[in-house]
Amino acid sequence: VDKSSQRLTIAIQKSGRLSTESIALLQACGFRFSLHEARLLAHSSNQPVDLLRVRDDDIPGLVMDGVVDLGLVGENVLDEVRLERKATNISYDFTRLRALEFGQCRLSIAVPKEDNYQGLADLQGKRIATTYPYLLQNYLQQQGISASNAILTGSVEVAPRAGLADAICDLVSTGATLEANGLIEKEVIFRSQAQLIQRPGSLPAAKQAIVDQLLPRIDGVQMAKE
Ligand code: PRP
Ligand code: ZN
Ligand code: MG
Repeated sequence: VDKSSQRLTIAIQKSGRLSTESIALLQACGFRFSLHEARLLAHSSNQPVDLLRVRDDDIPGLVMDGVVDLGLVGENVLDEVRLERKATNISYDFTRLRALEFGQCRLSIAVPKEDNYQGLADLQGKRIATTYPYLLQNYLQQQGISASNAILTGSVEVAPRAGLADAICDLVSTGATLEANGLIEKEVIFRSQAQLIQRPGSLPAAKQAIVDQLLPRIDGVQMAKE
């Protein structure tokens, strides 16, 4: 990373639920990008701005470590990384600039349809498959339930049928994934939407000027949509 660079670096999700709307928002704010599928870095042709396209799970850490200036990321991933870093003594400082009006979803516990689930107490001593172990354990602890995690980085919804877990804790947007896997949503533990975050510390003046220009444009775009 060229620390002397005056180009503002913005991390967005490469491919997933937030990608299209992240790019659309930045374009609506006046930044022009030509995106090539295989390229991780895209330079704006009309502003000193670079887009870094990465896995969403990596975005909070890149921002908290000051490797990129801004990030567009779901609150779910942001909070999970914050809890993980807190627990492992890694700095988790960042500034939340705006809540963005897309990427709405919830992190929920779901069980197989045929289970006669009565309530959280049924999860006592069970195993729950998830990509969000910190958010899940945080919630279970508050509810006085002790269950173990089966940590998967993907395909969480297949875990009960595969005999890897009794329940899952995963993101639900339309509910289609749960439905397709014979699961039913029972507890909503976290509600999420996309967020614009900034790295800790102050930005060089040239970068700050771009952020100062960007924020009112985001407000304008979001207001026009209402
Ligand atoms: C989430 C989740 C499910 C899907 C649910 O994945 O893991 O796979 O979305 O959406 P639905 O209720 O509309 O079916 P996400 O898109 O966040 O991708 P990732 O798990 O690869 O980060
Ligand atoms: Zn992800
Ligand atoms: Mg998924």
